[in-house]
Amino acid sequence: MKSLVKFIILVVLTSSVGQFLYAQSVSMTINKRYLNLPIAQTQNRGTMKFLINTKQERSFKIRLAAGEPDYWVFCDMAGLQGKTITIQYDGSREGLTKIYQADKIAGQDSLYREKNRPQYHFSTRRGWINDPNGMIYYAGEYHLFYQHNPYEREWENMSWGHAVSRDMIHWEELPTALSPDSLGTMFSGSTVIDYANTAGFNQGNTPAMVAFYTVDNPEKQIQCMAYSLDKGRTWTKYAKNPLIDSKAKWNSKDTRDPRVFWYEPGKHWVMVLNERDGHSIYTSKNMKEWRYESHVTGFWECPDLFELPIDGDTKKTKWVMYGASATYMIGSFDGKTFTPESGKHYYVTGTIYAAQTFANMPQTDPRRIQIGWGRVAQPGMPFNNMMLLPTELKLHTTKNGLRLSSVPVKEAEQLFEKVQQSSSLSAAEANEKLKSIGSLDRFRIKTTFKLSHATSAGLSLFGQRVLDYDMNNNRVNGVFYSPENMTSMEITADIYVDRTSIEVFIDGGAYSYSLERKPVSGNSEGLHFWGTAIDVKDLALYTAQSIWK
Ligand code: FRU
Repeated sequence: MKSLVKFIILVVLTSSVGQFLYAQSVSMTINKRYLNLPIAQTQNRGTMKFLINTKQERSFKIRLAAGEPDYWVFCDMAGLQGKTITIQYDGSREGLTKIYQADKIAGQDSLYREKNRPQYHFSTRRGWINDPNGMIYYAGEYHLFYQHNPYEREWENMSWGHAVSRDMIHWEELPTALSPDSLGTMFSGSTVIDYANTAGFNQGNTPAMVAFYTVDNPEKQIQCMAYSLDKGRTWTKYAKNPLIDSKAKWNSKDTRDPRVFWYEPGKHWVMVLNERDGHSIYTSKNMKEWRYESHVTGFWECPDLFELPIDGDTKKTKWVMYGASATYMIGSFDGKTFTPESGKHYYVTGTIYAAQTFANMPQTDPRRIQIGWGRVAQPGMPFNNMMLLPTELKLHTTKNGLRLSSVPVKEAEQLFEKVQQSSSLSAAEANEKLKSIGSLDRFRIKTTFKLSHATSAGLSLFGQRVLDYDMNNNRVNGVFYSPENMTSMEITADIYVDRTSIEVFIDGGAYSYSLERKPVSGNSEGLHFWGTAIDVKDLALYTAQSIWK
């Protein structure tokens, strides 16, 4: 009897606490495309829930602005038209009353034209982005999924954002592809097309696009899949997720970022998965059952593994195993085991992280094209970070052995118009020519210069060292670099400057790096060569278009 009373009191208490926690709620019938929500970074995060007939439709964390918002984010309500939703929030109440429906997102009129919006790099309309995910070419479209927090400019609520492009340069943002569910949030992964219907998801002649992703929850990270029959627009999560739960085996929570591809010689799927201290290989015939095969230690997060021709000769190939930091090993792969032969090497440094390469490239275009996450802050903007330019990866024989190189894809050429081309200039003459570039908001400059009796020289933009070639210490912007011709004294740099970022490709992509664009405050020098005893052998200046309409 006593315990029954206790129980009743407990139920009454918890339900009233529950009601109290979610006392703040508003209801509305959805008749517009977007729901606009005000954000203040100084506000604590609260949990917001959408309920439809008391059933939870979504739940996410958000810093709803009580006072003046810093910026607005939105929910795409396309799928909920005509439905009455109740929005519950356990944080400050005031913000709830400011939420409103509209057919435009708040700020639509200045979208992509905001002060610090990258003009020729992909960034998202609203919120945070990190890793590129599920990069795939299919039916004329390049798909870029990405780690996304749609509700804030900082990391949280991991979802797969989605954008498509016909040329990897101009992107159209689509609704969120994968949202958190009862298992957890959506971490990084990859996609494939299941042409042979190995998993049985295909419908008629439509092969499924299958996504492999990690679900993260406070306890562990597990590998899951989902499929789409409409070119990645809508997704069905596999009912028997997870596919792999390897926390116990590794005694580690760090098991994530599945990269899946078809291994034709063995007629099976390969999954490269980062587990604790390296990349593991799993194989499968049907995408549902996976068998552990092998493990290579020395990598952390975001694996990639691909085969590349050596010096363009498709009869001679090597495999490249790749980690989040863009360091790699070169070796051989038999479908089950990667055997490292050299490494770890690097070909790119800077803001790049967690890069991925496009799957399913057409047979007529077997390029290996990579996009990296650019860890570039976008000050004062309702969005954060960006993607770096897509680059083509190649494997070359160099004086030190095989090495990767990367240059922007040829599709990027359409962005730039050459406005100046000169050769054999002194630094002073070159600096005169640089003035013809006009706006320094965004541009490209390609130059080859030779050090004579200087030990270092380069280019600076409003006091920031865009290029610092130190021949004595053999460093380019602080990182060891020795040109293929080590007696040449020469360096070629192809420099892409956008509003908030700079990407530099040295000597045809043998080495590249990216930086945040950070003018030294008060500096009015603009763009100029520093280090006077140089011969500017070649100088080309280009204006740059915006990719946004
Ligand atoms: C790399 C990473 C991945 C993970 C994702 C979460 O930046 O830590 O390992 O899946 O970000 O957003």
